[in-house]
This record gives sequence, structure tokens and C-alpha cells, in this order.
Amino acid sequence: MGIILATAGSAVGLGNIWRFPYMTGQNGGAAFIILYIIRVFLLGIPGMVSEFIIGRHGASNAARAYAVMAEEKRHRQFHPSSLIGYMGVLTSMIILGFYAVVAGWCLQYLFVSVMGHLQGDATFAAGYFQQFTSHPVLPALWTVLFILLTHYVVVHGVRNGIERASKVLMPALFLLLLFIVVASCLLPGASAGIDFLFRPDFSKLDEGVFLEALGQAFFSLSLGTACLCTYASYYSRQTNLFRSAMQIAAVDSVIAILAGLMIFPAAFSVGVQPDSGPSLIFITLPSVFSQAFSFLPPLGYLVSILFYALLSLAALTSTISMHEIGTSFLYEEFQLSRRSGAWIETALCSLLGILCALSMGAVDGLRLFGMDMLAFCDFLTAQILLPLGAFFTCLFVGWYVPRKVVRDEFTNWGTIRRAPFTLFLFFVRYVCPLAIIAIFLHQLGLL
Ligand code: PHE
Repeated sequence: MGIILATAGSAVGLGNIWRFPYMTGQNGGAAFIILYIIRVFLLGIPGMVSEFIIGRHGASNAARAYAVMAEEKRHRQFHPSSLIGYMGVLTSMIILGFYAVVAGWCLQYLFVSVMGHLQGDATFAAGYFQQFTSHPVLPALWTVLFILLTHYVVVHGVRNGIERASKVLMPALFLLLLFIVVASCLLPGASAGIDFLFRPDFSKLDEGVFLEALGQAFFSLSLGTACLCTYASYYSRQTNLFRSAMQIAAVDSVIAILAGLMIFPAAFSVGVQPDSGPSLIFITLPSVFSQAFSFLPPLGYLVSILFYALLSLAALTSTISMHEIGTSFLYEEFQLSRRSGAWIETALCSLLGILCALSMGAVDGLRLFGMDMLAFCDFLTAQILLPLGAFFTCLFVGWYVPRKVVRDEFTNWGTIRRAPFTLFLFFVRYVCPLAIIAIFLHQLGLL
């Protein structure tokens, strides 16, 4: 149970509470959510189970786990399938770089909430966000601080402690979200936001939305970086892989929808544009905290502190999982000490994080392909590398790994009756790879 919760801790994070609302807002609301849910359950779950199978069977770092599987079959040292693992390591490093920037924003908002400075209307909040993110030093400093915090947890073996604490704190975040949802839905004019979330308008779906929904689903499930492999290497022989994937995906989606219900009614009520992009939650929430709790300002003060604290913690359980992938890879593959492996990971991610933080306004021209660095890294990982990682993982499990191994892992050596093995195999062999290719081709305008 503990390790499943830890996997859920990796999955639940800024992907649900920051990225999901802003993606939904940019893509017209309800119709995007429907696409997203379809991708989570039809493509995400088979992908997750595949990573679980590789991780539990290979029982080692992400890149090696793929190689272990392949070596068993071919009896040789290097196999191209390790490349899937290497790609996962690279992807998780890039994600950690830009994710830490947003996690750093949470720390700053926690700090100013405690100081009581985050009060005012939506215009004030938007101005504040703009001013803070374009500051030449502050955002980069928080980014590095967050990565160092993650480093500390990974190196000093306090990870178990954090994960134990998150067993209590994640449900606390869930309850707090519910509370803020109610407050937000009671704001004047909130019903327009609820409509936006639940009444689909398919005319709003544009070309890119199919890939964006796919990327969001994989990003939120931590799928495609081999991160799930790492967790599954600690699963016992009794862990029901399919059921665990379903549970984690369900929890993850519920939290994302709740985050949507927290943001959009409020955004419509206080006049924030739903398609404001990455700033969405940061410019909407301060007004919620001051307006929804105007009858009792100390409550608003307390709720805002609790919210940013728990959000930072949810981000931390996710960054731990990303950092761990790189650290254990460097440590096991290059005969480094674990400490040096962790420092290399920290240094590389901090460098990338600083570039992303500065590109938000402090340094003009820090752009790639017309996007600021943060948007570029986000695009590169969520919309290219994660789908590719999941694509190759499904092909690997579906076509390469001996069927007996897959069946044994899926059915826990025949002990789980009625495990939908044939259906699973059909999905990883055909449905997932073909759907991912079709979505890519569609994005390129070829389909
Ligand atoms: N799933 C995490 C979130 O939603 C992000 C993540 C992606 C973590 C990939 C690990 C690997 O916040």
C-alpha cells in the first residue's frame, strides 16, 4: 500500500493543479477534458502497466531495467532497448529543470502569503505575477532552492519520511482542494466557469488539441520517463499491477478535475481569462483567497498558506521521483558514488532551471523556436518525449518481451483470476502505438 501511495505521490503534483487547468483553459474546457480522460484510461493505463512490468521484472534503474529484459532474451550486453531507458532519464532531467521553476513560484507564493502581501484583486495578482517572474534573481533562486531541497531528500535517506508524511498530507491537500472548490463555486458568476468545464463545445477543439491532451495525460501520470519503472522495482509479487494503475489514474484524474473546479468558477467570477497560460492559477487564486473568504479574512490567510504549502509538498514528491531517476542512473551506470551522481543531476537540472526561470522576462531573447525556455522544455517533454517514451515502451512490452514474462507479471504468476490479459496485450500491441502515431501524424498535418 505504501509504495502505491508513493507512486501516486509522484503522479499527483503540479501536473494536476497547475498544468491541467491552464491546458484546459487554453483548449476550450470540457471538450479537452473528455479527450484527456479518454487518453488517460485507454492509452495511459496500458502504458503504466507496461512500465510497471518492466520495473518489477528488471528490478533496477530505469535504463537498466529495459536492458535486463532484453538481455534475458538475447544474452548480450547492450541492447537498443536501453535507449528507451536513456531517453527516460534525459526526459526526467528536462522536466525537473522547468518543473522546479514552477515549484519555486509556489515557494515564493507561500512566502508572500505568510507575509500577508498577496492581497488584492485580479489585476493586482496579474501584475504581481508578471513583476515577480521577470525579476532577474528571485525566481532563479527559488528554483535552485527547490532542486537543492529535492537533492537533500534524495541523498539523505529522508525520502521514506517524506513519503510517510505525504500519506497524511496528500489527503489533507485533497480536503483543502474540496474546501476551496466549494468557496470558489459560491463566488458570484461562478456558474459560467462550471459550464466551461462541463459543457463541451467541440468547435473549440483546434489542430493541436489531440497531442496536447495526450501530453497532459502522460505528464500527469508520470508516464514515459521510466519513472514508474523505478517505483515498480519495489513492488511485491502480490501487487496487482493493473488494479494499481487504475487506482493511481483515478486519483490523479479526480485531483485534476478538482483543480479545474477550483480555478475556472473563480477565474470567470473575478475576470481572469481562462486561456492565460502558465500564470493561470497564480493570478486567479490570490483573488479567491481574498474574495471568497472576505467574511473572515484570517480564514483566507490560513487557507492560502496551507494551500501553497501542500502544493509545494505535492511538487516535492514529484521532483523526488524525477531526481531519483537521474541519480540512480548516474550512480549505477558510471560507477560513481550515489552522492556524486546526485550532485551531477542537481547541477545539470539547476542550470536548465535557471535558464527557464530567466527566460520568463528577466532576459529577453532567451527563446527557442519562438517559445520561452520554460514553454519550450514543457513542449519538448510533454508533447514529444513522453509520448515517444510511452510508444516505445508499449512496443517493447507488446512485441519484444516474451509473452510468458508479460503474462506472469500481469497475472501475478497466474494468481489473479480474471485479469484482462488478452485485452491488455491487444492495447499495448496495437491500440496504443497506432493511436500515438496517428496523433503525431495529425499534429504534422499528415492525417
Ligand atoms: N506527474 C507529475 C505531476 O503531475 C510530473 C512528473 C512527470 C513526475 C514525469 C515524474 C515524471 O506533477
